[in-house]
Amino acid sequence: MTTPSGRPGFNEIDAAASWIRGRAGGRAPEIAIVLGSGLGGFFDRLTDAFAIEYADVPGWPATAVAGHAGRLGIGTLAGKTVAVLSGRVHMYEGHEMDRVVFATRVIARLGVKTLILTNAAGGINKAFGKGALMVLDDHINFLGRNPLTGPNDDRFGLRFPDMTEVYSARLRGIADEASRERGVPVYHGVYIAVPGPSYETPAEIRAFRTLGADAVGMSTVPEAIAARHMGLDVLGISCITNMAAGMLPETLSHDEVFEIANRVKDAFTALLEGIIERA
Ligand code: HPA
Repeated sequence: MTTPSGRPGFNEIDAAASWIRGRAGGRAPEIAIVLGSGLGGFFDRLTDAFAIEYADVPGWPATAVAGHAGRLGIGTLAGKTVAVLSGRVHMYEGHEMDRVVFATRVIARLGVKTLILTNAAGGINKAFGKGALMVLDDHINFLGRNPLTGPNDDRFGLRFPDMTEVYSARLRGIADEASRERGVPVYHGVYIAVPGPSYETPAEIRAFRTLGADAVGMSTVPEAIAARHMGLDVLGISCITNMAAGMLPETLSHDEVFEIANRVKDAFTALLEGIIERA
């Protein structure tokens, strides 16, 4: 069923999943991980992997953000069959929500049960510093959009899905165990999603702190909602690549987001491997 506007519906999602399955050589991923800005290198941790360019998958929306490679790999990591998605579609590129969550729905239809969403985010909590990692305990959807708006397709999930525990308590506990075992400290906090692409003003950041947010970013929340709708267990981890606007006497730049993400990638990789091992 396509949505009334012809946007991707169940049939398009299923067609893309079947297309990938036909090329996966019998490998059925149980865990998927979406890599945020600057974390694309994690892709190379997969062994026996095969990779697919997003552009080759029927119906997959094109992404054009620098540093987002736009490919899906399925391979082995820490003894598990894992799908790694390098590059995601953002609202700020002009995509409707059902395109933003296309990949999430496709990997769910592939049979993935656990979704790990990573992102680069600005730190709002004053205890954080650049390069800190934050496990998402909850989120605030400040996008003004919800990926489930429109007719509900019951084959995906319920009309009114519960969001009391978007980020699985079990997986958050596993993240803490992996953090201790690998010696990679993590914070916990609330992520607020904004549409972007402009960064926030200092007044917005003060307002978000009052609302209870610890970090701010432009992704993750639509994917987490769509994944919960389809019954997946979700874990979210932010790499704090910068302190949010107005917190330090400096301006924000996308280059810095990359530089810091790149600096912490080895620690982040170790943490993710520890999590996947236990998930
Ligand atoms: N704001 C929004 N998104 C971001 C930021 C930020 O400060 N840093 C990385 N992604």
